[in-house]
Amino acid sequence: MKNVLILGGNGRIAQFAIQDLLTTNNKVTLLVRDANKVPETLQNKVKIVVGDVNDLNLLTTAMKDIDIVYSNLGSRDIVPLAQNVISAIKSTSVQQLIWVSTLGIYDELPTKFNEFNHHALGNGGEQSYLSTYTKAAKLIEQAGINYTIIRPAWLTDNNDLDYELTEREDTFKGTVVSRRSVGVLIAKIINQPEPYQGRSIGVNKPNTDGDEPIKY
Ligand SMILES: NC(=O)c1ccc[n+]([C@@H]2O[C@H](COP(=O)([O-])OP(=O)(O)OC[C@H]3O[C@@H](n4cnc5c(N)ncnc54)[C@H](OP(=O)(O)O)[C@@H]3O)[C@@H](O)[C@H]2O)c1
Repeated sequence: MKNVLILGGNGRIAQFAIQDLLTTNNKVTLLVRDANKVPETLQNKVKIVVGDVNDLNLLTTAMKDIDIVYSNLGSRDIVPLAQNVISAIKSTSVQQLIWVSTLGIYDELPTKFNEFNHHALGNGGEQSYLSTYTKAAKLIEQAGINYTIIRPAWLTDNNDLDYELTEREDTFKGTVVSRRSVGVLIAKIINQPEPYQGRSIGVNKPNTDGDEPIKY
């Protein structure tokens, strides 16, 4: 049983992780910007903290007595959010951060798919999605905290539960993965975090290789 804080608790991947975390007996706290978006079925099963991750005081208070922080944040301004998460973790007794990033932050995709990804995610501009997600992930890797970075392939809302993993130094496999698969993987990591410490994990649906995200 772990005390888990989910940043971006209304996020779509998070909904799948929450289901599994509750069935495996964890105490789940959701940090959300809008409490009205939390599904009614969860209202009496989780603790809800309303706030913004840009608010360092609120974030630090929310991390009191938390074992694992799972960041499901999606933002055009991800770097200051990463900086706040790192600061808050360093001033509390949080043991591990699970940070959802994106594919392509190490240029780790096969050449043609990597080119597609670069174009689609901002063409390498300094403020682009891919550049800012790369910078945020680097900050986390260099912060001296215990982390696991998740790099999902292009996300789908399909219902399949089917994934494989690659490591930081591997060429990324596949092009797509379901949010359900990523959420289930994250709950698995939270339930047994030690083997995943210090890793940056690519997640894809097997046999979905291509020069751009395949449709299925
Ligand atoms: N789309 C893809 O194909 C793809 C592929 C790989 C990785 N990713 C990344 O995977 C991550 C998770 O995906 P998802 O589909 O679960 O994302 P999502 O549904 O958009 O969830 C992101 C959550 O972050 C919250 N958030 C953003 N800024 C915040 C702030 N300042 N303070 C507090 N909460 C904040 C949002 O809150 P609100 O609900 O209040 O807006 C939202 O609930 C994202 O980082 C995404 O970029 C996406």
